[in-house]
Amino acid sequence: MTETLTLSRPTFRGLLRRLRGHSRATLVAPVEEKSIEAADVARNEPIVEKSPNTTVQSALLVVSKGTYSLDTNHPRPTILHDNEVIIRTKAVGLNPIDWKSVAYNFCLPSYPWVIGRELSGIVTEVGSAVSDIAIGDEVWTSTYYRDSRAGCFQEYVAVPGHTVMPIPSRVDTDEAPCLGVAGLTAAMTLWRWLNVPCPLQLQPEAHGDEEWLLIWGGSTVTGQFATQLAVLSGLKVITVTSSKTERLSRSLGATHVVTRDGKTDDEIVEGIRLAVGDKITRAIDLVGPKTAGLALRAVSSQSPVSLAPLAMIAADQEVGSNVTVHTVEMKQFVLDSSCRKYAQWLNALVGEGRIVFPELRKIDGGLAAIVDGLDVLRQGDMSGKKLVIRL
Ligand SMILES: NC(=O)c1ccc[n+]([C@@H]2O[C@H](COP(=O)([O-])OP(=O)(O)OC[C@H]3O[C@@H](n4cnc5c(N)ncnc54)[C@H](OP(=O)(O)O)[C@@H]3O)[C@@H](O)[C@H]2O)c1
Repeated sequence: MTETLTLSRPTFRGLLRRLRGHSRATLVAPVEEKSIEAADVARNEPIVEKSPNTTVQSALLVVSKGTYSLDTNHPRPTILHDNEVIIRTKAVGLNPIDWKSVAYNFCLPSYPWVIGRELSGIVTEVGSAVSDIAIGDEVWTSTYYRDSRAGCFQEYVAVPGHTVMPIPSRVDTDEAPCLGVAGLTAAMTLWRWLNVPCPLQLQPEAHGDEEWLLIWGGSTVTGQFATQLAVLSGLKVITVTSSKTERLSRSLGATHVVTRDGKTDDEIVEGIRLAVGDKITRAIDLVGPKTAGLALRAVSSQSPVSLAPLAMIAADQEVGSNVTVHTVEMKQFVLDSSCRKYAQWLNALVGEGRIVFPELRKIDGGLAAIVDGLDVLRQGDMSGKKLVIRL
């Protein structure tokens, strides 16, 4: 039987004590009522007992709109297809889509569901058709929300083998998760959708005319990867950030950074045009529909332009006839095994030490700490840092 305990700030410590005495228990924390105190307790005293020989595990479930539940008796995923791999989760990265999908009820095919899109961990089982990954390998992966077995906020995940990448030797297990969403999104956006050549395949003579990429949200974790990958490919990059993260964006290779603090939208667009003129032919927006619209005012009015609005674009947004708007679908990485090459290229650049990782904000405490971590992310003051939860 499942016992459900609804958490509120004053009673959380007591409930955690009670929980430890139950073989099957569920924490329910409405999104608006979560407690930082709860995460602090969990960080110091992990509440999840792990046994390698059972068929159950702990998983953070989404049980209804805006409500999470920690189930210590959730079925452990097993291999259902011979191309699958089981990974024991070591660290998960938190992403804006995680809290947004729960708060606004999308990307949740049914309840209960396990979310979470990136992790690092150790391979514990491989299907008979998997040849290049072995039990014991330290790996990272990027998952697709449609399979609850692949949701990263659980102790074990089942994922297609082609999505499982070895962690490059210079990267640790806490850093590796952010390759799964931010790193891979930046890589695939540039290499697959915006037609930027991968630096590994560039001919020395390939650098021709100056080509400008605008990244609106240059300090976002995705923007940090995109800036570096674009610069490695010979593009010139101009970003929009706050003044807090201006220096970070420059350090990653942006030629110009337009700070947005205290400026009107017109002033920011003017600042971009003043710096680069009518030369921007590629743009990535990482903030939202409004800034995607502003990016369209900053790009070239004459040359062909490619825009990737990664944080949505308004359905009624006017788009110039010279602009192609690309819908970046990261699910392709999971659905189309030929996309493994993008992760391999990214891994190669990382392995060569050519990519600087975002600063991490690490939280111990396992699955119980995720809900509070998502709330920190939701408050939106990460200043370019990546939130990682260790299990
Ligand atoms: N389509 C996809 O598959 C996909 C994949 C990955 C991410 N995304 C989306 O891309 C967006 C970024 O994700 P992320 O994880 O990289 O973000 P993140 O690191 O969580 O972004 C936080 C940063 O955004 C910056 N920011 C906030 N408002 C801004 C504004 N008005 N202009 C410029 N920068 C602003 C802040 O820096 P400053 O205040 O210092 O500027 C902050 O450091 C999210 O909306 C996410 O959902 C989509």
